[in-house]
Amino acid sequence: MKGARVRRHHGTTPRTTRLLGSLLLVMAAGAVTLGASPGPAGPDRGTAAPVPLDRVIPAPASVEPGGSPYRITEDTRIRVDGSRETRRVGAYLADVLRPSTGYRLPVTEHGRGGIRLRLAKGPFGAEGYRLDSGRSGVTLTAAEPAGLFHGVQTLRQLLPAAVEKDSVQPGPWLVAGGTIEDTPRYAWRGAMLDVSRHFFTVDEVKRYIDQLALYKINKLHLHLSDDQGWRIAVDSWPRLATYGGSTEVGGGPGGYYTKADYKEIVRHAASRHLEVVPEIDMPGHTNAALASYAELNCDGVAPPLYTGIAVGFSSLCVGKEITYDFVDDVVRELAALTPGRYLHIGGDEAHSTPHEDYVKFMDRVQPIVAKYGKTVIGWHQLTGADPAKGALAQYWGLDGTSGQEKEQVAEAARNGTGLILSPADRSYLDMKYDANTPLGLSWAGHVEVRRSYDWDPGSYLPGVPASAVRGVEAPLWTETLENSAHLEYMAFPRLPGVAELGWSPAATHDWEDYRVRLAAQGPRWDALGIGYHKSPQVPWPNE
Ligand code: ACM
Repeated sequence: MKGARVRRHHGTTPRTTRLLGSLLLVMAAGAVTLGASPGPAGPDRGTAAPVPLDRVIPAPASVEPGGSPYRITEDTRIRVDGSRETRRVGAYLADVLRPSTGYRLPVTEHGRGGIRLRLAKGPFGAEGYRLDSGRSGVTLTAAEPAGLFHGVQTLRQLLPAAVEKDSVQPGPWLVAGGTIEDTPRYAWRGAMLDVSRHFFTVDEVKRYIDQLALYKINKLHLHLSDDQGWRIAVDSWPRLATYGGSTEVGGGPGGYYTKADYKEIVRHAASRHLEVVPEIDMPGHTNAALASYAELNCDGVAPPLYTGIAVGFSSLCVGKEITYDFVDDVVRELAALTPGRYLHIGGDEAHSTPHEDYVKFMDRVQPIVAKYGKTVIGWHQLTGADPAKGALAQYWGLDGTSGQEKEQVAEAARNGTGLILSPADRSYLDMKYDANTPLGLSWAGHVEVRRSYDWDPGSYLPGVPASAVRGVEAPLWTETLENSAHLEYMAFPRLPGVAELGWSPAATHDWEDYRVRLAAQGPRWDALGIGYHKSPQVPWPNE
């Protein structure tokens, strides 16, 4: 069905057609620029061709270049319909464009031409959009505001990289002529941030959210608790945050989000059309909770806080009733802070919980999540228990994971459990790129850019029905990462590849084409102040 709408994609387009298209675009750009009024001088003034419509990440489903480019000028308006949501997307676009263009770019319901955002019925789905560009303007059309927002991200990438700078740049600001029709392959395109091993401030999380939005990521999974830190205030168990959150890996001061902080993260994510998925990891990975409340331990003795990086040594006490009072309180308070549908209960690496206890624990805890109106997600070890109806399992195995373990996941998928794919040796953004990478871990091997991009979620796990795969997620664990610069060095340039696997039709998958599109992102990251790994696999433009 998707294939039928792809009128032009990388697998089937003769190179000559694409070259010819590019040449025409260059000529059209030149014509427009020649006729322009004088403006500030700049190195690319008069020579810049617009970015080709297919030089976008994630690759759009369908691209038809043609016609004259649109030029954003001091007279351009951002035209919206009367809805508050459309106006919001328009205001966001204006915020992106104003600093670098220096133009006023009023967001208005009036006038003609310009950049128009419109909601309309059409074959867009919940997140797709259509972009039409020509001499008189650019129109983005979508059925939902999320589609307009994703279309805005495409429009951003069609402008020169300098559009991302926060001071006035010379332009010209051309958008290539033609049409893009685009809709995601998967509804789940996630990124996980571990705020437990090291704590990240609200502003640091917001900065990461803004970067995720660039690539149409729509879920932010926050790993809010682990052995080294509990990061969310819980009124009924206050020491979880005040004591359990008081340190981090290496012994630093840690931290936690007040409920107001957390609401601000959720609000900011929603403004970028991301849903926050909170995770409380249990029954393992719980030392911070066990250290905060002695009564949660089977022996009634609280262990010390933990600042190392071992895993698998802690477990909630499955046989004590207070454990379920605790889980009920935490889930109730967290669900109340969560407008989204999902609550992640971890379930990985419960090496200190006997299997029978693990199954019992999950049988007790999953109904608590349902009682508070949320859908369970667990790491894929949940499939070793009995996943609740509608639950999702997040697969984090390796190419080398045993066939038996993969088969257990596949069987759960055949029985209705949806899958989110996060193979550690592909999508874990904290794995070192190579032996010289100064940050990160290497237990899943080294993961260079090609390895992280070059796999197919649709056929990754044998024996899994295609409909069970809900999408992909790129986890970023932070044992070695302490600040935004660290996060960015590990996420870029791999994050866009996982985003593309989640969004783009399988037919567009082509490493040689992808690496060229990825190279074009480098100057954008420079303009945004994002420091990234200069992978030797990518033909970055000369400095
Ligand atoms: C995991 O990496 N333990 C989910």
